[in-house]
Amino acid sequence: MIKIGNIELPDFPLLLAPMEDVSDPPFRALCKEQGADVVYTEFISSEGLIRDAAKSVMKLDIYEKERPVGIQIFGANLDSMLQTIDIVEKSNPDIIDINFGCPVKKVVSKGAGAGILKDICLMESLTAEMVKRTNLPVTVKTRLGWDHDSIKIVEVAERLQDVGCAAISIHGRTRAQMYKGEADWKPIAAVKNNPRMHIPVFGNGDVDSPEKAMLMRDEYGLDGCMVGRASIGNPWFFKQVKHFFETGKHLAPISLEERVEAARRHLQMAIDWKGEVLGVFETRRHYTNYFKGIPHFKEYRMKMVTSDASADVFAAFDEVLSKFSGHQFAE
Ligand SMILES: Cc1cc2nc3c(=O)[nH]c(=O)nc-3n(C[C@H](O)[C@H](O)[C@H](O)COP(=O)(O)O)c2cc1C
Repeated sequence: MIKIGNIELPDFPLLLAPMEDVSDPPFRALCKEQGADVVYTEFISSEGLIRDAAKSVMKLDIYEKERPVGIQIFGANLDSMLQTIDIVEKSNPDIIDINFGCPVKKVVSKGAGAGILKDICLMESLTAEMVKRTNLPVTVKTRLGWDHDSIKIVEVAERLQDVGCAAISIHGRTRAQMYKGEADWKPIAAVKNNPRMHIPVFGNGDVDSPEKAMLMRDEYGLDGCMVGRASIGNPWFFKQVKHFFETGKHLAPISLEERVEAARRHLQMAIDWKGEVLGVFETRRHYTNYFKGIPHFKEYRMKMVTSDASADVFAAFDEVLSKFSGHQFAE
């Protein structure tokens, strides 16, 4: 059994990665229903939260049904991060996660996200103070290092563990790589193989098939796997991986009816949560993947992604059901 603090998880848990504008409560709830064992919010700016920026505060919402859930925060200023913990705790998450991996310039230039990989002592002291501030488990998500020449992830992980970090998720790329090239899981396995490590080590990066998840478990020996892009428009990914682990076979393709039902519920939950305008707008990015592989789909996709009224999007779903009924999706 894998444990994050006192949270008990099944062997080789599957974690939904924090993803900006993707990992919102409706999407997290869908992934949880389909087998995600832990879900994370998108990253939330500590400075934004302290200013009470409405958008940041809204990101703290969690549904009971998605637990265990981690709220991910980022920042580089100790006072702000500590104040942020006090604010975040009011939302009663199960985990607080620190983002030490975001490669985006505007984050990195302030020393936050992956920017902190240039100052391991600060990374360590920030984590230590945050652990002291809260009774919740504090986890870290980070990258292999700043660039290829400065990969010290084995040492970094050990230092974070020693100051009380409860689990670490490692994206197998450096900041310099951004999203280019292939994720390298070998350094993550080196972290796991360090005999001093006892907290869970989760692998992340490019897991887009059940086979790759199995490789991460069996060949690289990691404690679990965090999934990002493969879940966008495919919340069934978690169930697909679990089915493969249990049976050695691929789950039957998800039917059109299930896809439409998920898209419908996704949109409805998004509207209930953030209102018609934002709900319609922010769910658009998922439709392409929900309906990937249907030939001559452009007309319907355009309706879904250009309509401003939810009634028109729901009508497009109905049309898709009647027009493409019986379509066989690939595995
Ligand atoms: C649209 C998008 C938004 C992301 N936002 C965040 C974020 O808020 N916090 C974070 O730690 N990582 C973020 N990431 C990185 C992912 O969590 C993950 O580390 C990365 O996508 C690699 O995993 P994957 O290959 O499974 O997608 C984001 C990635 C994507 C594609």
